[in-house]
Amino acid sequence: MSNQPSGKEAQQIAEAAEWIRQRVGMEPKIGLILGSGLGILAESLEDQTALPYDRIPHFPVSTVEGHAGELAVGKLDGRPVLMMKGRFHLYEGYEGAQVTFPIRVMKKLGIRTVAVTNSAGAVNTAYRPGEFMLIRDHLNLMGRSPLVGPNDPELGPRFPDMSEPYDRTLLRLGQETAERLGLRVHEGVYAGMLGPAYETPAEIRMLRTLGADAVGMSTVPEVIAARHAGLAVFGVSCLTNMAAGILEQPLSHEEVIGTTERVKADFVAFMREMAAQLPG
Ligand code: HPA
Repeated sequence: MSNQPSGKEAQQIAEAAEWIRQRVGMEPKIGLILGSGLGILAESLEDQTALPYDRIPHFPVSTVEGHAGELAVGKLDGRPVLMMKGRFHLYEGYEGAQVTFPIRVMKKLGIRTVAVTNSAGAVNTAYRPGEFMLIRDHLNLMGRSPLVGPNDPELGPRFPDMSEPYDRTLLRLGQETAERLGLRVHEGVYAGMLGPAYETPAEIRMLRTLGADAVGMSTVPEVIAARHAGLAVFGVSCLTNMAAGILEQPLSHEEVIGTTERVKADFVAFMREMAAQLPG
């Protein structure tokens, strides 16, 4: 996909957006990407239309456990929003252009703000599993960018600015919202790794030295594409485990899902409150 001549991808994006538009009776200005086990938020949607990824023209299909694989469009506290239940990861073998396709469709649909969620390991030893981290910045350590290949100026500039990847105003909104709800949240740097193996203890020490506070295998490509498209980004990590080597125990996907289950009520409350206030 990434090596297709300019224009072809823009056309596929337009077709997917048009297909979605015809099936939902609202125009959401806010998009949410729900990470592993966080799809629960979609249960709060009223007047919901669920669109399975495998029915949307040109959409990739997700495979990983805990990811439902559908777009849910509906109203959250009266406000139209579009939610991605499940996302695409580079470690699944998707190209950057596939991972970021939904972001571009969101842009085409008129969405202006995207809230990105994920589960992540805590690299910062002051953090604890079950806490949230608002993402202030990221390190792209995935060894690739979704923007590699011919640039279609219709989608964004060749050399997009990344000096404020996560919108500062939204970050402040996140802090205020957490405070109001009595939730303790951190603010830090997310390191994006390719995966799918969890990191080694030496890699986690390296990440800490580089300034990372949390580590995960998603988000970075989507945020790069969102900034390329001129969308404002809010990002939050659900810290599901201490990163490798911090505790004397192995990491597992079950632990990640288990912690997410434990904190989902707080997560839903926080994201609902955020979605009500996000500009769009
Ligand atoms: N490392 C990478 N990705 C993750 C982790 C982790 O420790 N926890 C949840 N996603």
